[in-house]
Parts: sequence; structure tokens; C-alpha cells
Amino acid sequence: MKGVILAGGKGTRLTPLTKIINKHLLPIGPFPMVYWSIIKLREAGIKDILIITNGTHLNSFTTLFGNGEELQVNLLYKVQDGAKGIADGVSYAKSFVEDEKFIMVLGDNIFEDSIVPYIERFKQQKSGARVLLKEVSDPSRYGIAILNEEKSIINSIIEKPKITNSPYCVTGIYMYDHQVFDFINSIKPSARGELEITDVNNYYIRQSELQYDVLEGWWIDAGTHESLFKANTLIYEQMNNQIETKKGGGN
Ligand code: G1P
Repeated sequence: MKGVILAGGKGTRLTPLTKIINKHLLPIGPFPMVYWSIIKLREAGIKDILIITNGTHLNSFTTLFGNGEELQVNLLYKVQDGAKGIADGVSYAKSFVEDEKFIMVLGDNIFEDSIVPYIERFKQQKSGARVLLKEVSDPSRYGIAILNEEKSIINSIIEKPKITNSPYCVTGIYMYDHQVFDFINSIKPSARGELEITDVNNYYIRQSELQYDVLEGWWIDAGTHESLFKANTLIYEQMNNQIETKKGGGN
């Protein structure tokens, strides 16, 4: 399976930092934010990765990662024309993924879980899409999944609801089959002028083709100053724990 990382957009919630640097290159731990998405994909055996970013910052990405050799992955890049939304960004992956199923990760999503078990379940799905949910305390910031009473299916997804009883955020880790490109062609820009990934996911729901899992570990959309700080704290904690575990193993 191939992987796609979205690393475009304006990063307006992180100004003034994003006036001069792409959000996905801001540091989390000792690495640029997007590094963590690459590592998560690599851990799952996904080595062919397309990074979609904006023209202004393409050069920074290629200077940092080149063809991916140092990270033992194969990186390709595409430039998204303008900040027209996540779904618009995904459309740039069509020729890269061809007709195969693929996984797409938003480069500002930092999370603890390994994606291996979720990918395995997606591989077993004959067709359709799979999203990963996480309970959040501030649902109005995200796409929120409304589940049925048995919690067996997602009835609908609402993008940034003002009021909702559901705590289930749709995280920026999406698995799609080739139908995604037709659905993207069918949607219209939202009030914020973007092609919303939530509208694409609702297409899958209407076809009864959207499955889900709930992430077990911590998850963060590092797109604000506060969440960027939190992501740093959690990543350093994780790195320290790994060092401690290694030390313990050596005794
Ligand atoms: C985007 C999606 C939203 C999703 C979130 C996850 O929000 O539109 O549905 O829950 O990513 O990080 P945005 O970052 O564009 O506000």
C-alpha cells in the first residue's frame, strides 16, 4: 500500500510562525512535524510516500528529506495549487496511487498508536474507506462522527459542529479506495471556501462503505500554538520512556 501525506495549507492558526515557515516543518521534539507522519507510515511497511505541499515551501521539504533515502523511504512531492482544502489536496494523489487502496495522513496529526492493526483491517475490507476516531473534549474544532446507538456504524460526520453530544473526532488518518477521486469530483467548496474531507467521508457513509476504529493512545492535531506545545511535551515524554525502556532492557 502507498502513503500520502498532506502538508500544504496556510497554517493561519500558527501565525506569526507560519508567515515564514510551513506549519509541517515546525519542530516537534528534535524533528520537523512531518517527520513523525513519515515514521508512522514506515513502521507500517509503507515506503512509497507522496508529500503534497504548497509551492512556496516545496524547496524546504526537498532540502530536508530529498528522495527519502536517509529515512529509508521513497519520497515524491507534488505541489497543491492554493489552499483549497484537504479533499482538493487528496485529488493530487490520483496518478500516484493509481487504482490501489491507500492511506492518507494529515502532516499535523501527531499520535501514539501504531497504524499497523488499522491498516490490516482496511486491507480486509473489500472496498470503501476507513477512518480513525478519537474522543476529544473540544469537538467544535474537528470533524465529528455521529455513531448509531450500537456504535457499529457512523451515521454522519459534521465538520466543526457548534453543539454536539458526540466526543468522536475524525482524526486526520484516512484510508481510501479509488472511489475517493470520484467523490472529490462531486463535492462543492464549503463556507470556508475549501473542499472538505468530511463531505467525501459522508459520501462513503451514504454508500454504507465507511468503517472505523477508535485510536487507543493519545492523538493531537498540532495546528494551534497550544496543541503544538502539547505535542512537543508528549513526544519528549515518549522519547524519554523509550530511552528508559532501552536502559532497563540492557540491565
Ligand atoms: C481537518 C478536518 C477535520 C479533522 C481534522 C483532524 O480540520 O477538516 O474533519 O477532524 O482535520 O486533524 P482542519 O485542520 O482543516 O481544521
